[in-house]
Amino acid sequence: MAIRWGLCGAGKISHDFSVALKTLPAEDHQIAAIASRSSDRAKEFAKKHSIPKVYGSYEELARDPDIDIVYLGVLHTEHWKVGLLFLQAGKNVLCEKPFAMNSRQVKDLVEAARKTNVFLMEAIWSRCFPVHAEVRKLLAEEAVGEVKLVKAYFGSPQLHIPCSVEKELGGGALLDIGVYCLQFVLMVFNGERPESVQASGVLLDSGVDESVVVVMKFSRKRMALCAFSIAARFSNDAVISGTKGSIRVLGPMHCPTTLVLNDKKTEYPLPEPCLPLNFTNSTGLRYEAEEVRQCLLKGLKESPRMPLADSVLLTEIMDEIRKQVGVVFSQDRK
Ligand SMILES: NC(=O)c1ccc[n+]([C@@H]2O[C@H](COP(=O)([O-])OP(=O)(O)OC[C@H]3O[C@@H](n4cnc5c(N)ncnc54)[C@H](OP(=O)(O)O)[C@@H]3O)[C@@H](O)[C@H]2O)c1
Repeated sequence: MAIRWGLCGAGKISHDFSVALKTLPAEDHQIAAIASRSSDRAKEFAKKHSIPKVYGSYEELARDPDIDIVYLGVLHTEHWKVGLLFLQAGKNVLCEKPFAMNSRQVKDLVEAARKTNVFLMEAIWSRCFPVHAEVRKLLAEEAVGEVKLVKAYFGSPQLHIPCSVEKELGGGALLDIGVYCLQFVLMVFNGERPESVQASGVLLDSGVDESVVVVMKFSRKRMALCAFSIAARFSNDAVISGTKGSIRVLGPMHCPTTLVLNDKKTEYPLPEPCLPLNFTNSTGLRYEAEEVRQCLLKGLKESPRMPLADSVLLTEIMDEIRKQVGVVFSQDRK
């Protein structure tokens, strides 16, 4: 039977997610409902994506008994409040990245999910791509020997986008795109806590981070280097260097289709979208949707691809980076 998705938020990523779901078999995935703060926006979205149920508030979706999982595609300043609404109503939730504004909020979400015994996952879609599955396999086989250094870069000029630069909208490079570099490092080092995190960054006048470089040290003399920016375009690749070779995930490393093991290149093409997309390679959102379906079928409460412990550690590292570069959100003071 198809899992029934309820979409929360009729914004850009919800559009792309809906398009990605259409690349999967209809007998496996159905979009059952869309909820928006505006009924008109919800109706328009439903028409475009042929969604049967339309709600003009998030509360109505939370009360719908015929939804298997809620996809939370709202602005990240809202993830904590809206996430709690669904989790406390006993709904399974796939929450867009970043999970929330700080680790305290993330821990609240995890606690709420455990209390109502529902599934919860941070939508780090990168982890569900075939390229990442291959990276994990190669690491398990020690294909490049002992890993010594992981590098991950993500730079995308987006100073013209309000939610990237304004503090009240949760702006800054770290929460928007730096999260992808850090999660890559944690994936390679199996969710291990770094021994040290050193960050240096430059801020915008609004008080959010424009560009940041992070160096992390892990046990057994292993290191990681991440750089991310909302002011400049980078190579956006990731490289794992070991004692016997290297694995390179070509840009865009957060939704990759090309892997290079030493000199051997392998492509993993994505399906074509049925409608224009807002973001690069968004039909790849299909992989996390299918990962969620598999988890629900097995009765899991979290995904082994992106465990909640990884999300908590990821946000704790992000809190530390923000402390070092001097970015404070109003949510940190509560
Ligand atoms: N996985 C990815 O590749 C990817 C790509 C882009 C974005 N994202 C993440 O997805 C989330 C949404 O991003 P987006 O680009 O889709 O943003 P967007 O187009 O601006 O949509 C955000 C949605 O949030 C909802 N919302 C609820 N409360 C809000 C408030 N107080 N102010 C503004 N919006 C509010 C709105 O939905 P309604 O008004 O319809 O209720 C709005 O449509 C972010 O957390 C972002 O980091 C992920």
